[in-house]
Amino acid sequence: MREIQLPSNPEPYWREEEIPTFEPLKTSIKTEVAIVGGGITGVTAAYLLSKQNVQVVLIDSDEILNGTTGHTTAKITAQHGLIYDEFITHMGEEKTATYYQAAMRAKEFIEKTISEHQMDCDYESQDAYVYTNDDHYIMQLENEMKAYEKLSIDSEYLTEIPLKLPLKAAIKMKNQAQFHPLKYLKELVKLCKENGVTFYENTPAIDIEYNKHPNILTKDGHRITCNHVIIASHFPFYDKQGFYFARMYPKRSYVVAATSKLEYPGGMYINAESPTRSIRTTPGKDEPLWLIGGEGHKTGQGESVMHHYEKLKKFSSEHFDVKEFVYRWSAQDLTTMDKVPYIGPITKGESNVYVATGYRKWGMTNGTVAAMILADEITNIPNDYAEIYVPSRFQPDPSVRKFISMNADVAKHMIKGKLDFSDNKLDEIKVDEAIVTRINGKRTGVYKDKQETLHAVDTTCTHLGCEVEWNSGDRSWDCPCHGSRFSYKGDVLEGPAKKPLAKVDMKTKNG
Ligand code: FES
Repeated sequence: MREIQLPSNPEPYWREEEIPTFEPLKTSIKTEVAIVGGGITGVTAAYLLSKQNVQVVLIDSDEILNGTTGHTTAKITAQHGLIYDEFITHMGEEKTATYYQAAMRAKEFIEKTISEHQMDCDYESQDAYVYTNDDHYIMQLENEMKAYEKLSIDSEYLTEIPLKLPLKAAIKMKNQAQFHPLKYLKELVKLCKENGVTFYENTPAIDIEYNKHPNILTKDGHRITCNHVIIASHFPFYDKQGFYFARMYPKRSYVVAATSKLEYPGGMYINAESPTRSIRTTPGKDEPLWLIGGEGHKTGQGESVMHHYEKLKKFSSEHFDVKEFVYRWSAQDLTTMDKVPYIGPITKGESNVYVATGYRKWGMTNGTVAAMILADEITNIPNDYAEIYVPSRFQPDPSVRKFISMNADVAKHMIKGKLDFSDNKLDEIKVDEAIVTRINGKRTGVYKDKQETLHAVDTTCTHLGCEVEWNSGDRSWDCPCHGSRFSYKGDVLEGPAKKPLAKVDMKTKNG
């Protein structure tokens, strides 16, 4: 039987949509609010602020809607995996209820905005299921169900789900939703433009200076002087000693999009155990596409990235009678110390510069919550949800232990990477593959592109000096310490690193 292959290039289905493009910033400017990052948080905040006649400029280091927002599975749900029992234990029932209500408020906002502006964005009401096929997780599901009952979440405990998958138990959260995120957001961009928002693409922000007002400095040497800055750049491009890189950890996860001979029974699904399996459908161009995601792992660590796609392919083929794999893509997500996003002033007492980050894969609701909170904060409207997300909060949480071990993990990678020298031969590199070798005594990464040109970079991460590893699925160099990612030419794809990897001159190779 013919084996069905995965697409050779990573490309999210959502990006097939035609997205408006914008010029880079070419001069220094002034505005009331400057937003850095054109994903769901930045665009929604721009929309909300501009509706209230606030002057807004939005810049993106690349193209808008091409970061995590363009690589999501786009479930609009308050069912963020198994979370509510854990949250009640760590932060009490009241704050947990606030988290749930904020997510549901975000869902209502999206729904209302779509209906008000008659947006055609494949929005569908769906039930969300978290399920397990592992005996060890049954008690966790039972406890989660008790948490749902305490929080009066409209739900049901089940031993069968509509989708044909082996399972022991499941919880259904009723009346959640899914959509095409870029069809929705491009409409919001259009509304923003009508309200006077100015967008600039390919305009990386590199720093903030404080004079009377905050000034964003761009890579091209321009300044944006403003009253308020919203940093919605996924990983904050600017830290102001908030030490965000030490308070979050990055994970990559994968999606394959397939057509199937089966009829999809409805619902959005995620399992409780590892490896994660997340399933939903979307209408697709000609026929429904099944989006099967999961295989999360710490960025820059573990087995070859293509193995993760292969595992999703195997799972999909085993259970869903796949006709063809049409797309594959991956995303990077950040998790905070207590799993609640950081939304609010970048450091305690700061009233001009805000961050929104750490959405732990649930960016459609958390990103919308962030936009609503920050728009309210800037326009002095009280917001009932803001308090639980304040970045300077301290929760005495058992997961602090996890972070201490995460930082030990960073130290381990810092040392291991340096020692991990090899003498791979340049003439043995195959097309579209990379090796780590030694050039002039330095650990060097070399990628051979499809035209057989070699690209050599110093593998020392420009953030804090760990050694990057090759990501064969996305053709990037990824840092195992805090998740910075670089293109095969060394350009920064994701922070916290701000500077590119140093290029290595191949002509002077002397091993
Ligand atoms: Fe921190 Fe690379 S991202 S050292």
